Amino acid sequence: MSQPDRVMQTEIARTDNEVNTNDTVRRAVAALQAGEVVALPTETVYGLGADALDPEAVEKIYAAKERPHFDPLIIHVPHKNSLYEVAEVPAEISKTVTQLVETFWPGALTLVLPRKPIIPDIVTGGLSTVAVRQVNHPIFHRIVKNFGGPIAAPSANLFGLLSPTSCQAVEDQLDGRIPLIVDGGACGQGLESTILKIEPGENKPVIRVLRPGPVTEVELKKFGKVVFADKNADVEESAPEAPGMLANHYAPRETPLRLLERPEDFSPEEGKTYALLSYRGQPKDGFVDLYDWDEVSVLSPGSGRVAEAGIRFFHVMRQLDMLDVDEIIAEPVPDRGVGKAILDKLRKAAVK
Ligand code: TXA
Ligand code: MG
Repeated sequence: MSQPDRVMQTEIARTDNEVNTNDTVRRAVAALQAGEVVALPTETVYGLGADALDPEAVEKIYAAKERPHFDPLIIHVPHKNSLYEVAEVPAEISKTVTQLVETFWPGALTLVLPRKPIIPDIVTGGLSTVAVRQVNHPIFHRIVKNFGGPIAAPSANLFGLLSPTSCQAVEDQLDGRIPLIVDGGACGQGLESTILKIEPGENKPVIRVLRPGPVTEVELKKFGKVVFADKNADVEESAPEAPGMLANHYAPRETPLRLLERPEDFSPEEGKTYALLSYRGQPKDGFVDLYDWDEVSVLSPGSGRVAEAGIRFFHVMRQLDMLDVDEIIAEPVPDRGVGKAILDKLRKAAVK
């Protein structure tokens, strides 16, 4: 349910020296134990955390974000083995699950598995599965370890808007709606985790990517046949899809965005102002010199690296949104590696 804007004081807890950090970890753990929500840094994006086993605490996440209840949350476990406390791992995929956990955890990989009854319905939207990951961030790690149980945490933004990759970005959206933000600096990966489901295949397991992210196809290929949910006709279209599958998501708050597949598709309207979101800022790509842009923001200047573009993506989108231009025009990024996740977000952010 929605709640009025700015109903409480939001405190920022710093982690800039050891004394602050110790105090911040204590405060965050105490808040989680008291059934409160806390915004926490992770290596992907900031999450809005609460005790995953306390339905009333989890309800506060949905309220603060104005998130619909059909959209389930990821839970973040303190140890690799905690996976088995929250999820059932079917025998036919257990070898693959072990391999993925050993290779990618802690890290930006979320596994969707059958849930254990201990997980409340509100976390999974009533589904029979639960999404689980172990975060690779030193502050988050200390908090979840001291808390000692799973933390449910979606990205710490208002539903449908840009994911936050800094404390300031969380504050911009959730100030007055949550009691505490732990400032852990900028997020190292900058894009939400890769979400996948594993199914037994004929020759090898099928790894179904529900949301592309920092863990890429090339890295996953060693463990099975990688299939992207949106590209495969035989995917069950049953709800819920991963977040990127919702029609409008990752959208700038103020400024409409358009993804232009080709420069020749651009026909500016008289009197309107435009900013360009460029992949590598190279005139030879055909966008930079196409128009007298009010602003050009470049994701990975020079030869272009998709991983670097991923780290900067939400930060640059946020800055473009604050410019007060009429429209953001985005160049495509390469459809490979982390680029798949960026393209997915640009398509979802674009006005339909
Ligand atoms: O990197 C991340 O994944 C960040 C950090 C905070 O961990 N979290 C994040 O959470 O991106 P969120 O809520 O913004 O996106 C998680 C999405 C949900 O929207 C949902 O679509 C999908 O995960 N999901 C959760 N449980 C699922 C399930 N049982 N089956 C399929 N998809 C699920
Ligand atoms: Mg999100």
